[in-house]
Amino acid sequence: MPNNKTVVSQEQIAHQYEYMQFIARMNEDKAQVRGQRPKAFTQTFGCQQNEADTQRIAGMLDEMGYEKTDRTEDADVIVINTCAVREHAESRALGNVGALSHLKKARPEVTICLCGCMVQQEHMPDKIKKSYPQVDLVFGTHALWRFPELLYRRLTGDKRVFDTSGDAAGYIAEGLPVLRDGGTKAWLSIMYGCNNFCTYCIVPYVRGRERSRAPEEIVHELEQLVADGYKDITLLGQNVNSYGKDLDEQIDFSDLLMRLNEVPGDFLLRFMTSHPKDASHKLFDTMAACDKVAKQLHLPFQSGSDTVLKRMNRGYTAEHYRELIAYARSKMPDITLSSDIIVGFPGETEEDFEKTRTLVAEVGFDMLYTFLYSKRSGTPAAEMPDDTTHAVKQARFERLLKTQDETVQARQNAYQGKRLRVLVDGTSKGTEYPLTARTEGGLLVCCAGDDLKIGEFADVVIEKTSLRCLFGRSV
Ligand code: 5AD
Ligand code: SF4
Repeated sequence: MPNNKTVVSQEQIAHQYEYMQFIARMNEDKAQVRGQRPKAFTQTFGCQQNEADTQRIAGMLDEMGYEKTDRTEDADVIVINTCAVREHAESRALGNVGALSHLKKARPEVTICLCGCMVQQEHMPDKIKKSYPQVDLVFGTHALWRFPELLYRRLTGDKRVFDTSGDAAGYIAEGLPVLRDGGTKAWLSIMYGCNNFCTYCIVPYVRGRERSRAPEEIVHELEQLVADGYKDITLLGQNVNSYGKDLDEQIDFSDLLMRLNEVPGDFLLRFMTSHPKDASHKLFDTMAACDKVAKQLHLPFQSGSDTVLKRMNRGYTAEHYRELIAYARSKMPDITLSSDIIVGFPGETEEDFEKTRTLVAEVGFDMLYTFLYSKRSGTPAAEMPDDTTHAVKQARFERLLKTQDETVQARQNAYQGKRLRVLVDGTSKGTEYPLTARTEGGLLVCCAGDDLKIGEFADVVIEKTSLRCLFGRSV
């Protein structure tokens, strides 16, 4: 069903390019005086979507003539892209902003920008206005494409600039520059926002409704990535399995995967995140049939208890989850599985928690991301009675980690002696296995072998294993 998202017109994008040019000219003048280009520092909190957004911001900064720096001390512009999914991420971002007050005092001309999910929350602009006077520019997720214009306003005016407006339906903006890190890995956003309203989650409120990019835009971006030498490409969306529902064209995520699999070149496609309520047998059949689609699945189940899942508004049962995993494994026996879990959701009993722990032990995941529930104001779960103490939740969390480590280690051990195809992607600290690589399933391998080259696929035999890493030698 089409939603009323706004597709930003090419005129509006061209307008942003004009602002980028204005700032680039200002920066050229600065560079002449100083003998070096002005510098920009970026920092990202949170998920892969945020990392992808920061790459867009970095692309715009590059277009505006800023050179990248890793040191806030050297920066003319500082951009902190924030996360709101848990309180911890917010406190860290605000802590970092707090620490910048000294820098701002010493160099008032530095421009400090805060953007992303945290600032898109209703109560945040006021809090920043009052308590963080060092911040010059605040823009929410919906205003990201207008960053050049907002920065220009700040640089040429004497007032702080706040833009956290935006329609929850959200925007799609094509044609803005992106500055990726180089290397082998790239993110490719296929959709934005979320419609699921899991009761604990802030994302739908700060990133707006689900909206899919046109398939031809995605194919085109993938072709460019492959031409640029990227080999490990992850398709991003909060719930990739509902891709296409808002498009006029009849296309779902499996159809998109099939189209992308046709793009020529030697590369691997991964995707995240999948939602169990929308993951279908068709998806697993498609994954099994597409040679470029990695046999890797990140399928968060959050809780193993049906009563908790219901209160979370997740829309599936633990039994349905088990069935999905069994089907995926029947089609792809070597598939790598990972999941997200929340411990200590309001009203979680000991029995509920044990159901989660049993599911972890039973499925045998290769990777798990376990979080302590964090209350997010404005979400339905924040209003639910919660009489479990923090100490009890913490104890459950640690018990789950123990079960998790045992199951992950067992999975890792099973790779001992196996021959695996890996993509070599960097260097490691160790001397015995000086390179890092990823298996098709996304597992980390530290490896050795004179013929191994960064950016190339190779076969290795696993010589030993640990909880987080496999160790392999080229064959
Ligand atoms: N508290 C704890 N974890 C959360 N997540 C989302 N919202 C919260 C919250 N309020 C977790 C979920 C999700 C992952 C990205 O973050 O497990 O899958
Ligand atoms: Fe949050 Fe649920 Fe949407 Fe994931 S699917 S972003 S957990 S609301």
